[in-house]
Amino acid sequence: MADVSLTGADLDRAGLRLDVDGAVATITLARPERRNALTFSTWRTLARIGETLPADVRVVVVRGEGPSFSAGIDLRLFSAEGVPGEDTFGARDEEFIGELQAGYLWLRRPDIVSIAAVRGHAIGGGFQLALACDLRVAADDVKFSMKEPALGIVPDLTGTKPLVDIVGVSRALELCLTTRTVFADEAARLGLAELIVPAAELDTAVGELVAAILAIRPTTAVATKRLLRAAPGNTLEEQAAAERREQAALLRELSAGRA
Ligand code: CAA
Repeated sequence: MADVSLTGADLDRAGLRLDVDGAVATITLARPERRNALTFSTWRTLARIGETLPADVRVVVVRGEGPSFSAGIDLRLFSAEGVPGEDTFGARDEEFIGELQAGYLWLRRPDIVSIAAVRGHAIGGGFQLALACDLRVAADDVKFSMKEPALGIVPDLTGTKPLVDIVGVSRALELCLTTRTVFADEAARLGLAELIVPAAELDTAVGELVAAILAIRPTTAVATKRLLRAAPGNTLEEQAAAERREQAALLRELSAGRA
């Protein structure tokens, strides 16, 4: 089996902090002096956090330190100097990109609910990280922008599907090809954030959301997320069958008196 152990040095190099407190894991993007710019180590380490998450974690909060959630990819990766200890951007094959995408994909797993707590800028890979989470709570100073096309690339960190699922193809196309900034009011209107709160209340609002989720029985929360995530790909009949399956299993469990 591959070695997936994660050290403090790995987290430091990736610009991340990880705090696990019982059922809640908090991942902090912790390079505020660079507006939490993301590197290949960040994405690879995020994937390893997903692989090594304790089984009793039920909620994962992703937040940024300082005024911005994340300014996206560290632009120095595009320069000749690069970032010390990192590969340069260069020509990258699909396998390489797949390794980076793994850093975001696990946030959709049914056994956890992931919440992005977004203040300030969420640009490019930062916007896609927020989109990778199940829920977004945003401060009223939030600024979302899908900047990749301005750099000649497409958004490739799993963000195109949730973006289209949330805002539809036409709006997604307009946002990506103009790379314009979406501010709080529009973000709320488009459904890019479930909740917009004053910046000073972001942590409290996230804490309340976490508490509400934890008040639901664990297996009920898992079944609900699995059911809802499957809904867009199902016909009405398939979804009705999925509801019956999930409910029957939960009722068996409840009547057996198991927690
Ligand atoms: N990469 C590296 N450093 C960055 C950075 C980035 N993406 N964004 C900000 N920084 C650094 C700045 O260079 C600056 O460093 P110094 O203090 O050493 O000069 C520091 O962070 C603070 O930045 P600003 O002074 O610019 O802060 P601001 O609050 O005035 O502006 C900002 C913030 C609007 C985010 C601005 O910094 C900015 O536009 N950054 C670039 C955003 C960008 O284009 N990102 C790429 C997105 S595409 C993508 O992400 C592709 C992908 O996933 C593969």
